[in-house]
Amino acid sequence: MAFLLPKGLLLGVSTAATQIEGGDVNSNWNDWYKQGRISDGTDPATANDHWQRWERDTELMAELGIQLYRFSVEWARLMPEPGQPDEAAIDRYRQELLLLREKKIRPLLTIHHFSNPLWFEKLGGFTRRENLHYYLELVELVAERFGALVSDYITINEPNVYATNSFFFGQWPPGEKKLLPTLRVMENLAYCHIRAYELLHRKREAMGYGDTRVGCANHLRVFAPKNPKNPWHRLCAMLSSYLFQDALTKAMTLGEFPFPLRNFGKLPKGEYTDFIGLNYYTRSTVSSIGDGVRENSPRNDLDWEIYPQGLEDCARRLHQLLPRPIWVTENGTCDRDDRFRSRYLYEHLQVLSASELPFERYYHWCFCDNFEWVEGNSARFGLVSIDPETGERQVKASGRFYAAILARGGISDELYEKYVAEQEYDVR
Ligand code: BGC
Repeated sequence: MAFLLPKGLLLGVSTAATQIEGGDVNSNWNDWYKQGRISDGTDPATANDHWQRWERDTELMAELGIQLYRFSVEWARLMPEPGQPDEAAIDRYRQELLLLREKKIRPLLTIHHFSNPLWFEKLGGFTRRENLHYYLELVELVAERFGALVSDYITINEPNVYATNSFFFGQWPPGEKKLLPTLRVMENLAYCHIRAYELLHRKREAMGYGDTRVGCANHLRVFAPKNPKNPWHRLCAMLSSYLFQDALTKAMTLGEFPFPLRNFGKLPKGEYTDFIGLNYYTRSTVSSIGDGVRENSPRNDLDWEIYPQGLEDCARRLHQLLPRPIWVTENGTCDRDDRFRSRYLYEHLQVLSASELPFERYYHWCFCDNFEWVEGNSARFGLVSIDPETGERQVKASGRFYAAILARGGISDELYEKYVAEQEYDVR
């Protein structure tokens, strides 16, 4: 039952601006809400009100002993109009970074986490090559204005999820359902990542900072054939994985654009990541191209299979592409009543600790319950809950468990008995 975490492994939490900050900032997600597209009708303008409550949230993290904090900046806030940065917003992020430094919590800054300013969206966003310089201007702004306070960066969060949900499945803004724009967006995001990787290194070096680490938060799933003996199922699993994640991670990491992706920017092959960023949640079981869930499997509230071994399987895939230290930039589960989150945490950390792969950091998704994109606020991933009336934060049992793991660098039998032993997953 008991185990120690690998020596030197750091533990933290992960968040994203649109999901926690609140405020009607004129982003594509504020607009998506106004179009009535959020399932439970909740408004990202409310979210967690972190924009106002950031001091308390940071203090609470420190109280729990959190060592790392991954967060993103809201592009629409920093650049309400093209080429016109908002000084007050820059200053507010700088204040937060200063407090993180004071509390000895190491920041990892994500530059793009799904949301775009509406002006960028209206220009065609990432579908058009002529627009990509706007993203690179944001990267430049971030490097210049936050560079003294942050040395670790994620250029883009889950480019495959962004491209497919927004342009192929049509569930996210701008709600398209076409293959070609999906592929163009993937290519353009790979281009943006590589250019941002170079830019961050170049800029920071010129500013005299040598300790820069840049990567991408890759979303990987295990794709398993429903019936492993069925060659069609096996082919579908392979193709789903290739089209959804493998081709794109290769382009982003190595500048190699395998079919059907094209290297329009004529980027040279290279090594475009300083760490392996992995967001891992689940396994898909397929009998056609796409998604599916294994029957009789442990599931979370969103019906995602809980499959801890997949954390190592996906990390290994990325590590084989390019051997770098592994940062689990997201891992967590949707569990409304905190009935099985501690077990989930325990089992994933156990897999990570038993592995010989070089896991260096683990960021739990998420610190607080928050705005879960098209699901709205009712899907709950947090270690901390938020009172919808008062906004008050309350640490859940899983949050106390995480704090205890941080304090002892592992899980004792006593901790297991207290937090995990009685928890069971739903099996459907
Ligand atoms: C995203 C997060 C999201 C989480 C849970 C990841 O795909 O990066 O923004 O909240 O998964 O769905």
